[in-house]
Amino acid sequence: MHTYCITGGCGFIGSNFVRYLLNKYGSNITIINVDCLTYAGNPLNLKDIWDEPRYFFRKIDICDKSALKKLFKEFDINYIVNFAAESHVDRSIQNPEAFVSTNITGTYTLLETARQSWETEQGFLPERKFIQISTDEVYGSLGKTGCFTENSPLAPRSPYSASKASADLLVKAYSDTYNLPVNITRCSNNYGPYQFPEKLIPLVINNCLNGSELPVYGDGKNIRDWLYVEDHCGAIDLVINKGLPGEVYNIGGQCEKQNIEIIKAVIRIISGLLPDSKNIGEVLIKYVNDRKGHDRRYAIDSSKIRKELGWYPQTGFEEGILETVKWYLDNRDWLLDVTSGQYNEYYKQMYKGK
Ligand SMILES: NC(=O)c1ccc[n+]([C@@H]2O[C@H](COP(=O)([O-])OP(=O)(O)OC[C@H]3O[C@@H](n4cnc5c(N)ncnc54)[C@H](O)[C@@H]3O)[C@@H](O)[C@H]2O)c1
Repeated sequence: MHTYCITGGCGFIGSNFVRYLLNKYGSNITIINVDCLTYAGNPLNLKDIWDEPRYFFRKIDICDKSALKKLFKEFDINYIVNFAAESHVDRSIQNPEAFVSTNITGTYTLLETARQSWETEQGFLPERKFIQISTDEVYGSLGKTGCFTENSPLAPRSPYSASKASADLLVKAYSDTYNLPVNITRCSNNYGPYQFPEKLIPLVINNCLNGSELPVYGDGKNIRDWLYVEDHCGAIDLVINKGLPGEVYNIGGQCEKQNIEIIKAVIRIISGLLPDSKNIGEVLIKYVNDRKGHDRRYAIDSSKIRKELGWYPQTGFEEGILETVKWYLDNRDWLLDVTSGQYNEYYKQMYKGK
């Protein structure tokens, strides 16, 4: 019976991962969701599992040393899976401070709490691991060819990616210095249900539904590798169970797309699903000034996790993007709650000292 501490479990990937674990392991595991509920943390993302007996929520900031210490006394935690982060590049350009605080100091505070709680005179307790959820953005930007391997140098270029790379180095330091069992996963762009509508795909869907402009940075030809969120969750589960301590694993969909291709794909699917909505179309596309320091291309070589752990993505882009668009169309209340800011209220109603 393992106990998982999932930080950032009310965010996009964290909430999908909590649901993934519960679907797979059911009542054989305990899950503690540690989230301080920033603007990106939405308790509604886990509304359906809020009353599960082995699911616990704690409203804690990962920079809060004493709250984490208390948590580790309350629960015998086996795995920390650290999703909690400030995650939006544009916000990091406007206001980097929160990124330094949560992504660097928060990761340090979690590492130190884990070290102090898990270390004994005989070494670390068995069946313990710290999994850092990182990003391909720590490797910087690529030209037209090539892709990042786990041995590519860290060359982050935005405050967001620099803060994530700093966190990765701290995790590595805790492994090298103290032998703390850790893994770092570096994944490409995720898409799927429950993503905050400031990110490209849900933003385009939401704006299409409202008949608003679809802003495209620069020439729209920046390239990202895309992975369906459920496939990311499967990869993390494998890394927790099979990943060798101290190892880094790249995770990617081998699915490179230009931003403009993504936008056109979403428009095509929505127009097909809502044939009566005459005002949804490519006329909504509006090219705007490029993002400062906009990385041109990311591409990831994930052959290590494929060969060593037997992972492969199960959802192709056409299937995943169709499912994703359908989900947002079927969950317009969710979109409305998020865009209106209503979702903050739900926490107060749902939180009963759980
Ligand atoms: N979204 C992607 O495409 C992607 C790709 C690769 C890696 N990642 C990484 O995966 C992780 C999750 O990304 P996401 O897109 O789900 O992010 P998100 O912004 O949707 O969610 C972040 C969550 O962390 C919580 N949080 C923020 N600061 C906190 C703090 N100080 N203490 C406790 N909780 C805090 C927020 O309330 C929110 O619930 C991040 O670490 C991100 O760097 C994301």
